[in-house]
Amino acid sequence: MSSESSPATLARQLTEAGYLAPSWRDAFTQVDRKRFIPDLIWVHGEGGYHPLNRTTDPGRWNALVYDDQALVTQIEDGDGGAGTAFVPSSSASMPRVVAIMLDALAVADGMTVLEAGTGTGYNAALLAARLGDRHVVSVEMDPRLADTARARLKDAGYAPTVITGDGGQGCAARAPYDRVIATYALHTVPYALVEQTAPGGVIVLPWGTGLYNGVLLRLTAGEDGTASGPVIGDSAFMWNRHEAPERDVMATVRKQAQPRATATATHTSLDPRDVFGDENAAFTAGVLVPDCRYTVGHGPDGEFTLWLADHTTGSWASVDYVPDATEFDTHQHGPRRLWSEVESAYAWWQSAGSPERTRYGLTVTPTGQRLWLDTPGTPVP
Ligand SMILES: C[S@@+](CC[C@H](N)C(=O)[O-])C[C@H]1O[C@@H](n2cnc3c(N)ncnc32)[C@H](O)[C@@H]1O
Repeated sequence: MSSESSPATLARQLTEAGYLAPSWRDAFTQVDRKRFIPDLIWVHGEGGYHPLNRTTDPGRWNALVYDDQALVTQIEDGDGGAGTAFVPSSSASMPRVVAIMLDALAVADGMTVLEAGTGTGYNAALLAARLGDRHVVSVEMDPRLADTARARLKDAGYAPTVITGDGGQGCAARAPYDRVIATYALHTVPYALVEQTAPGGVIVLPWGTGLYNGVLLRLTAGEDGTASGPVIGDSAFMWNRHEAPERDVMATVRKQAQPRATATATHTSLDPRDVFGDENAAFTAGVLVPDCRYTVGHGPDGEFTLWLADHTTGSWASVDYVPDATEFDTHQHGPRRLWSEVESAYAWWQSAGSPERTRYGLTVTPTGQRLWLDTPGTPVP
């Protein structure tokens, strides 16, 4: 997508690319993304994220602001304006993803919307432009971001309610909402979001596991206090701050796992690429092997080691991949046999006909959530 500098061009390009629904075109044309992007953004490059400052490189900053790219606006590890950073903690989402999610929300005039994850305030501004200030409540956990978003919204002429707090708690005082949207990845859908959605209302949220981040879910609230609906596509978002992995957790696991002599050594004939190189298999493994994270350490000549860890139980596993081998060395340690769990998950996925991830769905009830295949009556084991 070209980087001509105007919201109208961005809206036109998103429309031409098929991402922007006609009902959202006016809002995207009206709301200037530039007004919501801080002067300092972080651009992914060699070795991590590198600072890009509007004052020192206005041309590039301006081009990126109107490009169809996610812009990292805050990082966790050294927001000082210099050096390299690794962990984004807030961003302005990719415009096409914003457009797709808003379309999935299926709003109509007069509806009320709760957004969890205000971030820059851009999405809240789009909602306010489409539905009116009084119909939009947005919740941001980071007080500094919430304050900045409030100020930027005001400067741009919008006044949705921005609350500093946990998006998972929603805002009961203004409930029920016709529509709820989360703009950070959840693993466990907080029941408050379902409770605060009017029966028949729609909840759109990114959802993922430690092995796959993630998919986009579209749930519909029922009369019975539950919400249920299918995976409608993919969406990789930054995690809910309550569910984000601790920084460097995998590096710690890898350090603890040396030497590997303390672990049970076996072999596997399952090529780790068959699981982690297939998005549908990886999604399924993430569901069936809960509380598990992974990382990959690359070696020479195409060799790599896959590491799995459940740091709450101290369990870890490793698989050493060697090109052209038919068996791979595995090491497993701790109460959970994580690679064995992945093998079982993969076998189940194959026995179920290797379903695509859009055949899954989620039901959220007051007591928890369960994933299903094809229909809510077919829970994933
Ligand atoms: C991808 S950004 C949101 C993008 C935003 N909608 C926009 O238009 O710029 C995700 C945001 O969610 C926030 N967040 C993460 N966990 C949260 C939580 N539990 N409650 C509220 N906000 C949260 C982060 O601080 C971050 O600002």
